Order: sequence, then C-alpha cells, then structure tokens
Amino acid sequence: MAKILVLYDTHSGNTRTMAEAVADGAGAIPDTDVTLKSVDDADPRDLFEHDGLAVGSPTWCGQMTWKLKKFFDESTCVWGKVEDKVGCAFSTAGGQGGGSEMTCLSILSVMLNYGMLVFAVTEYSSPGMTAHYGAVAVGEPDDRELAACRMLGRKLVQHVQRVKGS
Ligand SMILES: Cc1cc2nc3c(=O)[nH]c(=O)nc-3n(C[C@H](O)[C@H](O)[C@H](O)COP(=O)(O)O)c2cc1C
Repeated sequence: MAKILVLYDTHSGNTRTMAEAVADGAGAIPDTDVTLKSVDDADPRDLFEHDGLAVGSPTWCGQMTWKLKKFFDESTCVWGKVEDKVGCAFSTAGGQGGGSEMTCLSILSVMLNYGMLVFAVTEYSSPGMTAHYGAVAVGEPDDRELAACRMLGRKLVQHVQRVKGS
C-alpha cells in the first residue's frame, strides 16, 4: 500500500482544484491510499506517516506561500527522518512566466533540505504540456493542466512503489 499525501495551500481555490487532480491521478493506481489536506489542517507527523508527498502552492511573489513555508519551518521535528519519502510539487500562477516553476523549485528545495527524494516528469501529458519541474497552471487550471496534475500523481505512486520495492 502506497500512502500518499497531497498537501496544498490556496487563496482562491485554483491550487485546490489542481490538488484534487493530483489526488485523482495517484488514486487511479491500485493499492494506493490518498489523503488530500489543506496546510491549515496539516501536522508535522503527516510528513512522516506518508510514503509520498505532493505539495501545491499558488505562486506568491515567485515562491510558495508563507503558510507552506511556515509549515515546513515548524516541522523540523521530522527533519532528517523522511529520507525514504518521495516528493513532488505543483503550482498555479496568475500568468505565464509569473514564477510557477520557481514556486515548484522552492518546494522541491525544502524537500531536498529535509532529505527527501524529489522528482518531476519528463513525459508530456498532451502536446506541448509537460511537468519538468512539477505541474503548473495559469489561474484556474484547464483540462490540459489538470491532465498534467493527474500524470504527476500517477508518477508519484510509481516512484513510491519503486522506493518501497513493491
Ligand atoms: C500575495 C500574492 C502574490 C502573488 N504573486 C504572484 C506572482 O509572483 N506571479 C504570478 O504569476 N501570480 C501571482 N499571484 C497570483 C496567484 O498565483 C494566482 O492567482 C493563483 O492562481 C492563485 O491560486 P489559488 O486560487 O490557489 O490561491 C499572486 C497572488 C497573491 C494573492
């Protein structure tokens, strides 16, 4: 059983829509238990108790939101104890070039600092749509962007299965 946490922050709902699609993609793989959680309800133990973690943030000034950064800053009780956990990121920004990929990198950077294994995706979910640094969208995600989110969720489970040797 792969235990997946899709953790997100959102101000106007777009990142939550992406999070639901990531969760759908992960949940489409058999023997996967997926939890969807707002950062408002998250606890440091969530990082420890799941095998795979997808974190989504709206792009705020080119980075993850302060709430997500605060969560990671306050979760250092599990720092160094999550080295077998697999992580990935997703983000929606106000515009193309607004920093969504930098936001994904800001999330992956913290995951690396915690010692997690991180990945993104080289595949294309549709022509012209990939997720090399994580799944990204502009504003409210459209169907193609949601398909990339589902692809990210599927990949997360596949990587977790590889790490767990199942
Ligand atoms: C405080 C703040 C900072 C933002 N900074 C950026 C930014 O740097 N680049 C950008 O393209 N959009 C920026 N936006 C727009 C949001 O990233 C965008 O509206 C996003 O889709 C919101 O996602 P949400 O509905 O999950 O809150 C910002 C919005 C807010 C409220």
